[in-house]
Amino acid sequence: MRYLTIALTKGRLAKQTMKLLEQIGISCEEMNDPSTRKLIFTDEARRLRFFLSKGPDVPTYVEYGAADIGVVGEDTIMEEDRKIYEVLDLGFGKCRMCVAGPESAGKLLNGQQQIRVATKYPKIARDYFNETKNQTVEIIKLNGSIELAPIVGLSEVIVDIVETGSTLKSNGLKVLEEVCPLSARVVVNPVSMRMENERITALLRDMNEVLTREQEKERMSSAQDS
Ligand code: PRP
Repeated sequence: MRYLTIALTKGRLAKQTMKLLEQIGISCEEMNDPSTRKLIFTDEARRLRFFLSKGPDVPTYVEYGAADIGVVGEDTIMEEDRKIYEVLDLGFGKCRMCVAGPESAGKLLNGQQQIRVATKYPKIARDYFNETKNQTVEIIKLNGSIELAPIVGLSEVIVDIVETGSTLKSNGLKVLEEVCPLSARVVVNPVSMRMENERITALLRDMNEVLTREQEKERMSSAQDS
């Protein structure tokens, strides 16, 4: 049997994914060693192979078939726009794609102003301003610490992910508009989906069962609290 290869987004998303997989009997001891610098891990018994990559590269590995399956944020899927199937919402890694800036920049979002928008997500920002809002803007691509841009005068606003909101708050910025809610997703290579349909479908079904059970538990406990 060939290996089924799963690309994980390095960091918290990979840890949450492995926790979910453990609940369906798939674990990878070696990955839990905090001192390891290894990037690829195999489970010989189940013929599974996991590797850790940067989020934006996960859809690339999956499109080219170097990974059969990937776990990645929906923001990255939207931005990369690869030929892959998005098959399961994992419900974790929840955050929002937002337009943010100083409160005073709110009035610049009326569709009339030619403003500068700094972002790690140029495609999402362009689609939102050009298509949803019909506002012509200049997009400036940055690679991180996006909140700096309006503070130092590089742009009027930013398009970025907001999770707890504490980075914005600490830097005197506010959410001005919400572009869309986001969460972690499972993606699959279209050829793998055909060739390994049985194994992939079984894996997705088992993951979905755990997620549904957990959602049900959460619903029960919040119903008890209220
Ligand atoms: C992300 C994002 C925000 C922050 C939002 O940055 O770009 O800066 O997290 O999280 P919060 O709402 O909980 O404060 P990340 O940590 O990925 O670092 P980056 O600056 O390299 O993008």
